[in-house]
Amino acid sequence: MAKLKVAVLISGSGSNLQALLDMCAAENAPAEIVRVISNVPTAYGLERAKQAGVPTTVINHKDYDSRESFEDALNQMLDSENIKMICLAGFMRLLTDSFVQKWKDMLINIHPALLPSFKGLHTHERAIEAGVKFHGATVHYVRPNMDEGPIIIQACVPVLPNDTADELGKRVLEQEHKIYPLALRMIAKRQVRVSAEKVVYNGVDNLMESMINPEG
Ligand code: GRF
Repeated sequence: MAKLKVAVLISGSGSNLQALLDMCAAENAPAEIVRVISNVPTAYGLERAKQAGVPTTVINHKDYDSRESFEDALNQMLDSENIKMICLAGFMRLLTDSFVQKWKDMLINIHPALLPSFKGLHTHERAIEAGVKFHGATVHYVRPNMDEGPIIIQACVPVLPNDTADELGKRVLEQEHKIYPLALRMIAKRQVRVSAEKVVYNGVDNLMESMINPEG
């Protein structure tokens, strides 16, 4: 089976990008990251891509006078590379409905919370503030409404007494690095599809991989 051609969109450190690059580095990996695109020229993730030998492009939203023209540039790059799957990995621009529609079921995101709780920013602070006992991360297909869409994998972590947002965030990030590659691998192996706006699994060796719980 040909490898799924993936582009990863980033804006920052790119630790999730690194997890995806590492997964794709295996010889028998079902997916291949063919380009990393950043809207921020100084994003450290660009360095990670270069070190992995993956071509990078900066499409700086500040160089465009509208969201649409910025996305036209993105689309041009993605189409020219024959991209079949886009992974948002800390990409900090909102995408228009028309972009999301064009890439329907070919566009996934990782969010640092157990959706549908805590959409948006500052999820770790808000989880602590709300007093929840469990928090986590979600990989989901992207839909026009921010942080909505069929859920592919979630991982949860405990919220410990006296946790700071930083400590909790680190615990969540560790899980993000596990579930994002897992989700991409399942998609590339055609083990997941969307039906009636829910994810249906087919031939996944261990379905528990889509529900990761803390040990102990
Ligand atoms: C992650 O927490 C991700 O869930 C969120 O943005 C952060 C990006 O981190 N969407 P990194 O750039 O992958 O290190």
